[in-house]
Amino acid sequence: MATHKLLLLPGDGIGPEVMREVEKIVGWFRKRGVGFETETDLVGGAAYDAHGASISEAAMDRAQQADAVLFGAVGGAKWDSVPYAVRPEAGLLRLRKELGLFANLRPAICYPALADASSLKREVVEGLDIMIVRELTGGVYFGEPKEIVTLEDGSQRAIDTQLYHTHEVERIARVAFDLARKRRNKVSSAEKMNVMKTGVFWRQTVTRIHKAEFSDVELEHVLADNCAMQLVRWPKQFDVIVTDNLFGDILSDIAAMLTGSLGMLPSASLGAEDPATGQRKALYEPVHGSAPDIAGKGLANPIAMIGSFGMALRYSFGLLDEADRLDKAIANVLASGTRTKDIAAPGTNPVGTQDVGDAIVKELEALS
Ligand code: IPM
Ligand code: MG
Repeated sequence: MATHKLLLLPGDGIGPEVMREVEKIVGWFRKRGVGFETETDLVGGAAYDAHGASISEAAMDRAQQADAVLFGAVGGAKWDSVPYAVRPEAGLLRLRKELGLFANLRPAICYPALADASSLKREVVEGLDIMIVRELTGGVYFGEPKEIVTLEDGSQRAIDTQLYHTHEVERIARVAFDLARKRRNKVSSAEKMNVMKTGVFWRQTVTRIHKAEFSDVELEHVLADNCAMQLVRWPKQFDVIVTDNLFGDILSDIAAMLTGSLGMLPSASLGAEDPATGQRKALYEPVHGSAPDIAGKGLANPIAMIGSFGMALRYSFGLLDEADRLDKAIANVLASGTRTKDIAAPGTNPVGTQDVGDAIVKELEALS
C-alpha cells in the first residue's frame, strides 16, 4: 500500500479548528487502509510568533518533500503591524512561488440543499457547477518593481507590476482547456485587454493555444469586470473561467458567495507534472480566510477545508472513489440540515465545527 505524505499547515484564526476536522477524515480513511502519513507545522502569524518569519526553512523543506500540503488560513489583526516581508500572507505566497503552484483550481458548486443560503435567487444558483482556474505564481502579486518610493519633494509613489511571460499564460491556458474537456467543454478567458497590455497579451496567447491544441473546446473572451457582473447575473452560463492572479482572486470570492457561503469553497494549487514520475507538487486550501471574528469559538464551517482534502484525494492521489464518497458524504450532511451558522436554514439550530466533522465521518461510514 502506497503511503501518501501530507503536510498540515493549519495557520491562524479558524485554520486550526477546521484542520482538526480534516484530521478526523484522514483518520477515517487511514483506518480503512488508505496509507496517509501526516506532519504538522506552523505558517502565517503562528510561525511569525514562533520564528519571526511567516514560514520557517524547516517547514518549507517539509512542504517540498510532501506529496501534498493542506493549508488552513493565515492572518489576523494581531499581525497587522508586522513588517511587510514577514506578514502572515507572505508565508502562503512563498509556498505558492517556491513549490511552483501556478494553477489554482477553485470549483464553485451549489449543493441543492444550499440554494436558499445564497444571497442570489434560487433559480440563479441551483445546480451551479463552475471552475475558476486562476494563474497563481505570476502577475501583479509577484511582478517587480513592487515598492513605495519617497520622491525628492517628500511625496511618495507606489508601484506594483503586472507582468506575464508567454510560458506562464500558455501553461495556465492548457490547464483550463484540459479541464473543460472533462466538463462541459467551454472556457471563458477573462482579462482587461481594453486597458492593459497584459490583457492584450493574455487574449492573444490564449487564442493561439486554443487554435493550435484545443480547437474542439469552445472559447470565449470576456472582460474581467463584465465577468464579475455576469457571475452574479447568470453564473450558469460559465463552465471553466481562466484568468490571471489578481482577477482570479476577486472573481473566486464572488463565485464562492454564489454557493451560499465562503465557508464552502475548496481549492487546489498545482505545479507542473514531473515527466519522469507523473507527480506534481500540490497545496490544498479553503478559499476563505482566517475569520478572526469567529476564531476559537467552534462556529466555523469546516466544509471548504474538508472539500480541499477531497480535492487532494482526487488530484494528488488519484483516489477517485474515495473523493466521490467524501463529496457524497458532504452533500448528505448538508441535506440532513446539519449546518454551521453561515448556512443554517432560517428557523433551524446551527451546529458547531466539530459536529459537522463528526457528521461527515458518520456519513462516510454509512456510505461504505
Ligand atoms: C486567496 C487569498 C490570498 C490571495 C491572500 C491571503 C494572500 O485572498 O487565496 O484568495 O490574495 O491570493
Ligand atoms: Mg482571495
